[in-house]
Amino acid sequence: MNSPVDINPAIEMNYPIEINPTTSSRIHEMDFENIGFGKIYADHMFVADYSNGKWKDCRVIPFDKMPLSPATSAIHYGQSIFEGLKAFKAADGKAQIFRPDRNAARLNKSAKRMAMPELPEEIFMNGLRSLINIDMDWIPTVTGSSLYIRPFMFATDEFIGVKPADNFRFMIITCPVGPYYIKPVKVLVADHYVRAVIGGVGEAKAAGNYAATMLAVNEARAQGYDQVLWMNANNFEYIQEVGTMNIFFVIGDTVLTPELDGSILDGVTRSSVITLLEDMNIKHEIRPVAVSEIYEAYQQGLLKEVFGTGTAATIAHVSDLGYKDTNMTLPPIEQRHIGNAIKQRLVDIKTSRVEDKFNWVYKV
Ligand SMILES: Cc1ncc(COP(=O)(O)O)c(C=O)c1O
Repeated sequence: MNSPVDINPAIEMNYPIEINPTTSSRIHEMDFENIGFGKIYADHMFVADYSNGKWKDCRVIPFDKMPLSPATSAIHYGQSIFEGLKAFKAADGKAQIFRPDRNAARLNKSAKRMAMPELPEEIFMNGLRSLINIDMDWIPTVTGSSLYIRPFMFATDEFIGVKPADNFRFMIITCPVGPYYIKPVKVLVADHYVRAVIGGVGEAKAAGNYAATMLAVNEARAQGYDQVLWMNANNFEYIQEVGTMNIFFVIGDTVLTPELDGSILDGVTRSSVITLLEDMNIKHEIRPVAVSEIYEAYQQGLLKEVFGTGTAATIAHVSDLGYKDTNMTLPPIEQRHIGNAIKQRLVDIKTSRVEDKFNWVYKV
């Protein structure tokens, strides 16, 4: 079996990290049997600041509120981007992270699009490693749980006036999480709101992309759905993605997923699933997927599975797909042979139960 990649010695220290541990851990407040999602944060956070064209002052400090000027430019003009990944505890008790290099690269892609400075990979990786090391006991071990890691960067100029900022802060916070979607999700096909357009910022993991979806999600919830399936902006014919997931369909024995068109997020899970489909010799096509094609397949009894892919959910089966006046009810979860097999393989790789032949797992 390949051993996971070790990120400890590999990276040079051009950006030293000062460690200031907490004197009062809150870990006793944590109920690891009832974790929930995104409510309790681990003891520490990582911070680095950017000014005068340089990243500096890398530090691990106790998780706490932080003073910010009411004029902080990210609040007003939205130069704010983030990432999401997870750490798992392996059988040997060590922490491991799934493909953090992809998140480091995507953060920089987002930064570029939002006129923000790129972050040296060393800061991302060593920040991650220092934080996970110090908060190792916060990684839950209950099946389906993990430590969710949220790196983010935002503009800190204290300036009211629209211009690209000069000062930024990069941070990482973490929180123990249980499964994201406990039940299969019900998804409503968007028919008048849009999330992203070609040439816009849909491909960046920019905070405003999520703000743009909230009203539509509220309206979908009022109709009994959990999430919105976003469509292309100019004619609502082609499928893009779900709020926090990329989307896959199984028609007959072929898996379909929309190709990246510049307005869809390039999901780490999506890319991993595509690699696994290849590896498992499952027929798949990455191309524009029309909603009419999905509807026709459903009417012919050929739509076998729909599932979303994302760090938070891993694989989330879709139970219902609302489209115009129809609710497409999909086959029961036990019959989702492809989604279930891919999910199992991904979880097994992330927790080192099977060979990590693609070198996706980084050991801390
Ligand atoms: C809009 C959107 N699409 C897709 C995904 C899935 O991406 P990943 O697999 O990298 O978590 C996410 C989550 O990060 C997302 O926010």
